[in-house]
Amino acid sequence: MAKGKQIQSVKGMHDILPDQWPSRDFIFKKAKTILEDYDFERIETPVLEETELFERGVGEGTDIVEKEMYSFKTKGGDSVTMRPEGTAPIVRAYIEHGMKSLPQPVKLYYLSPMFRHEQPQGGRLRQFWQIGTEFLGESSFSADAELIFILWKIFEEIGLKDSVTLQISSIGDSNCRPDYKKALKDYYKNKLKKVCVPCRVKYKKNVFRMLDCIQQECKEISAKAPQIFDFLDDECKTHFKNVLEFLEEAKVPYILNPYLVRGLDYYTRTVFEIWTEEDNIALAAGGRYDKLIETLGSQKTEAAGWAIGIERVAEFLKKKEVKIPKAKPEPKVFLAQLGDLAKKRSLIMFEQFRKASVTLKASFTRDSIKSQLRIANKLGVRFTLILGQREALDGTIILRDMESSVQETLPLEGIVEVIKKRLKEK
Ligand code: HAM
Repeated sequence: MAKGKQIQSVKGMHDILPDQWPSRDFIFKKAKTILEDYDFERIETPVLEETELFERGVGEGTDIVEKEMYSFKTKGGDSVTMRPEGTAPIVRAYIEHGMKSLPQPVKLYYLSPMFRHEQPQGGRLRQFWQIGTEFLGESSFSADAELIFILWKIFEEIGLKDSVTLQISSIGDSNCRPDYKKALKDYYKNKLKKVCVPCRVKYKKNVFRMLDCIQQECKEISAKAPQIFDFLDDECKTHFKNVLEFLEEAKVPYILNPYLVRGLDYYTRTVFEIWTEEDNIALAAGGRYDKLIETLGSQKTEAAGWAIGIERVAEFLKKKEVKIPKAKPEPKVFLAQLGDLAKKRSLIMFEQFRKASVTLKASFTRDSIKSQLRIANKLGVRFTLILGQREALDGTIILRDMESSVQETLPLEGIVEVIKKRLKEK
């Protein structure tokens, strides 16, 4: 058969190689521990959802729905989409499984891959993972504050709190936004010639998005634009004030950013992002979404949540040279084998050590004792156990002290205990 071209992974989607897992696991384990301490329970939804879920949930005018969804028709003719974000699916599950009748609030978290057909570049992938939370059935400011506090604790515990900023704003609700929208429209109206071309489109489609344009000329104009804070009604103002006071009390530093715009339509009131201090890359983001559950067909239920971008945080940990603790202790013992019988026995022996919680390394496939000792040396173990053909027949094993190179032959029976004792002695 003729060889075809070398098949590569799809653009913007990457293999997660073994050396990338320690930092990912580190982030996830820290987040999981904190979230579970605060009573969040894990949920996972399918990768595929009905396309309508995101059209209605995330919003038809958003970049995600307009340009970035992996949508297709199944062989059965259904319109489905590969999940671009986690909130709408969780809300769908909340409604579908009648979670509204459980004691409220329902606090959930997930660790899932997301798919967005964006232009891949540094930190922007087409398949990426998020750890996310959704706090459903709670309208109080204390839910927003708890969520932000937990998010901050996660960044603190992974060693990044001094390298990031918490940007926060309130975008009001359907009561305050029309007036603000009008004020923005009026403000930009006679400046449209000075802003970039995409901003002129945004002016017509979603004027709020003009506020987060990164083009220099647009940034200068937006810096003087009307601020949402002047348009919040009393209820939204009080809600936001309470969130900020809570954060101050909890010593979570924040930056008030009146121009924080989120790319998803479902947000109301509090919105926030965690940015890298140097270049304002969003590592995590979230907010309140009091209308989404209603939009997706249930009765009015308020909620809030956030999601952390795993790849971006892992990359940033590397940049900041944060030391990732080893998931497992360094091995202290290496098990070498020589000959067929020893090879067969070595798996059983390895299992005995594993069960006794002695971290052990072994090479079950190598035949040469020289190459096995080389590995043992490289690992820096204290002892190597050598099970040869003769020892396997005699019921003995050789114990080699790697520092002194002294070898002794010991009975195989009880060797786990002997090793445990010797490890304690040194
Ligand atoms: P989001 O801002 O779209 O919000 O994404 C949250 C985080 O996911 C971002 O801050 C970023 O770290 C990461 N992220 C987003 N897009 C990409 C990409 N293309 N490549 C790599 N990382 C990316 C949401 O998804 C909301 N569902 C968050 C939320 C939960 N709001 C309420 N509950």
